[in-house]
Amino acid sequence: LDIPSNNTKPKQNAIAAGCYGKDLGGQFPPGFKFGAGTSSYQVEGAWNVSDKGVNILDKFVHDHPTSIKDLSNGDVACDSYHNWERDVEMAAELGLDYYRFSLSWSRILPTGFPNKISKDGVKYYNKLINGLQAKGIEAMVTIYHWDLPLPLQELGGWTNPLIADWFEDYARVVYTQFGDRVKLWLTVNEPISFCDGSYNTGVGAPGVLSPDVGAYICNKHVLLAHAKAWRLYDKEFRPKFNGRVSLANNLLWIEPYSEEYTDLAELALQNSAGRYSHPIFSEAGGWPPGVEEVIAKVCLEKGYPRSTFPSFSKEEIELVKGTYDYYGMNHYTSRLIREAHPDEKLLPWPYGDAPDLKAKMTVSDKWPATVVPWFYVNPKGIRKQLAWLKQQYGDLEIMITENGFPTYHGLNDTARIDYYKKNLKQILLSINKDGVNVTHYTAWSLMDNFEWADGYTTKFGLYEVDFNDPKRTRTPRESAIYYASVIKNRSLDI
Ligand code: NOJ
Repeated sequence: LDIPSNNTKPKQNAIAAGCYGKDLGGQFPPGFKFGAGTSSYQVEGAWNVSDKGVNILDKFVHDHPTSIKDLSNGDVACDSYHNWERDVEMAAELGLDYYRFSLSWSRILPTGFPNKISKDGVKYYNKLINGLQAKGIEAMVTIYHWDLPLPLQELGGWTNPLIADWFEDYARVVYTQFGDRVKLWLTVNEPISFCDGSYNTGVGAPGVLSPDVGAYICNKHVLLAHAKAWRLYDKEFRPKFNGRVSLANNLLWIEPYSEEYTDLAELALQNSAGRYSHPIFSEAGGWPPGVEEVIAKVCLEKGYPRSTFPSFSKEEIELVKGTYDYYGMNHYTSRLIREAHPDEKLLPWPYGDAPDLKAKMTVSDKWPATVVPWFYVNPKGIRKQLAWLKQQYGDLEIMITENGFPTYHGLNDTARIDYYKKNLKQILLSINKDGVNVTHYTAWSLMDNFEWADGYTTKFGLYEVDFNDPKRTRTPRESAIYYASVIKNRSLDI
């Protein structure tokens, strides 16, 4: 890529140099790292090569082809299974400090259990990790990005309490295989999406509608699974490998529609971000304030004799509390919240409204729309969200594990450049003015890929992928050149 440089690289660490709290203009603090991300199902393809097992995504797209906008699936996707060298080359072209990708559970453990470890599966990830390492690019590895092995789903998947142990077993395998070279781990990606998102709508894998039970039970089990995997690393792997482990939470920033809804907005944040953060990151541990009560009330109103929201035992609270080395934050967009009118129809949480809170979610007419209905642009939201995290959970190290912008096809993606520029500016303000310790930024995505129910119609890539070409040729967009330039200069002043 032809990238302009102004050669103004800072020399020392920002915290040591006392830069936090100071306005350094467009300059990122020394040590700040830039990456880009993908996930296994969205890019790998090769869904049935060698001894790979079938996962819930393979099954869902084959059973319900019409639930994907362009009737596509991830059978081939970007064919990164065969094109990994090009992916590494792209990461190098951009000058990435790290590449975030996920491991396919069924590719490594075809049955879902460690009774059989696939040699070819492990070999594929070794090639990728070593290829990155050869170019000086770190790996940030997500252990689970929604592709649960089918045999585990047949045993109840995330609603079976045993999943915490199944996940721990799988984590042990991947720490053992890759931990000597992978130092940044994310146990799970966006549990709110695969718990609330899946079970509240029944749309997407595993295709089960269970809003009053499935979503909550999944929520609890995912926290226990994460905690066990973190504790396993802490005890057995940290001493020799010295890496860091967290999870990636999707944080939708929620503001009151008008002042009278300030408390409602706070409760909505606790009921979304809080349900997946408070048990891990707060000093007290356990469910966030107000949430158990509000859900219990809704359950009684629905005619259940008692709440369907699971409680934590004291031991479970202690097991989960403190199981982090940093905070992983995915962030895209914002909402306004207000009380619903009594006869107003409410869409399911988290993509529509907030029925648990009898609340309607809207957006400001000042926030530009994008090509997807759930996404309106409010760059100030990311700074406010970061400040909220600091205020809730103290002075954590925060890594932005996803942030990006959707378009249709085309290389001249000025709207994406604008989105990156404005979000990065807000992150700098957050670091410099609000003293929030943000250390990593991950652009989503390195390349166009299978965007779930949108198939290949919605494009998040810095690189365009030609899905009509059997070779899946990748071409840098204008935004790739922009991002490479920011990385090279470690500055927005380019
Ligand atoms: C978050 C998810 O982790 C990722 O898989 C998805 O493609 C992006 N959001 C964009 O929707």
